[in-house]
Amino acid sequence: MPAPPPDARSQTAEVVSVEPCGDDAVVLRVRPEASLAPVRASRFFMLRREDGLSPLIPRPYSIYRDGPASNGARELEFLIKVMGRGSQALAKSRPGERLRLIGPLGNGWPTLDGDGPPWVLLAGGVGSAPFLMGIQQALAGMDDARACRPDQLWYLFGAATKGLLYDLGAFEATGVHVHTATVDGSHGRRGNVLDLLEDLQRRGDLPSEVRLLACGPEPMLEAVEHLARERGLECWLSLETLMGCGVGICNGCPVPTVPGGPLGAWTNAKCCVEGPVFSVDAVTLAGA
Ligand SMILES: Cc1cc2nc3c(=O)[nH]c(=O)nc-3n(C[C@H](O)[C@H](O)[C@H](O)COP(=O)(O)OP(=O)(O)OC[C@H]3O[C@@H](n4cnc5c(N)ncnc54)[C@H](O)[C@@H]3O)c2cc1C
Ligand code: FES
Repeated sequence: MPAPPPDARSQTAEVVSVEPCGDDAVVLRVRPEASLAPVRASRFFMLRREDGLSPLIPRPYSIYRDGPASNGARELEFLIKVMGRGSQALAKSRPGERLRLIGPLGNGWPTLDGDGPPWVLLAGGVGSAPFLMGIQQALAGMDDARACRPDQLWYLFGAATKGLLYDLGAFEATGVHVHTATVDGSHGRRGNVLDLLEDLQRRGDLPSEVRLLACGPEPMLEAVEHLARERGLECWLSLETLMGCGVGICNGCPVPTVPGGPLGAWTNAKCCVEGPVFSVDAVTLAGA
């Protein structure tokens, strides 16, 4: 039975800042009270206020930035799209207030090595959140694998409109290839990230064999899964299912598995403890 990760803990964290980001998001910076080991990109934390403003059930958020502040203290950032009660409450936090922080949870991206085909990172809207650290960790070298060179990483960022291409400058500053697409054509190519991928492959900027990572709304992930299967590409999806507990107890985060695949003995995987990152060999959003 999958269990919560051994390095997860429940603690409080002090709010350092809440800065607006794009049309409808904030970057929440917190200082955890207790030490944490380094966190792999695309792992997540459950967050809530403890003063009654938040719903009882904390909400899951990918770690966005992780690093020491100028005073040397460990601080974490979360990119939060303001949607319902949970995110509204977090966005209203003020410096000095304390939040409940549970994590790190989940598995995180696979090791991005610098050997083999280019990595193409497909982000849709706030699905960009797990990618900034993903790029930084790939460039720094992960586990014992060879570090990626910036030209081996292609970050394709899509959104409905340019105000939802959150913190684009931070991605451009990493030095990797960055391309954008918007549905309304207000920034980059008119269309979506798969249109961008097709353009880059048609022009010969990218080979037909690439390795895909994707995070974004479910219809986008279904389309990515479909493409990966059709072309036999290695592909991992970071899923943002609804979650109750985040630690494998409530069964609130089922993801259908591929029959006969690596998780095939069960018809559903638990996104919170077996994911949120899954290979398309293991799960199927579009249905088997
Ligand atoms: C592993 C993981 C990592 C995540 N990382 C981030 C992140 O870095 N930044 C971020 O902004 N969000 C992230 N999310 C999504 C975030 O958890 C939800 O947006 C949040 O729970 C919404 O809570 P709320 O109380 O504001 O909205 P609610 O009141 O719970 O919901 C408001 C509306 O949004 C819909 N909704 C809620 N959650 C989702 C979802 N996951 N997908 C689609 N629709 C949803 C609801 O059905 C409802 O219509 C992540 C989710 C997971 C599982
Ligand atoms: S959120 Fe409770 S089991 Fe996954």
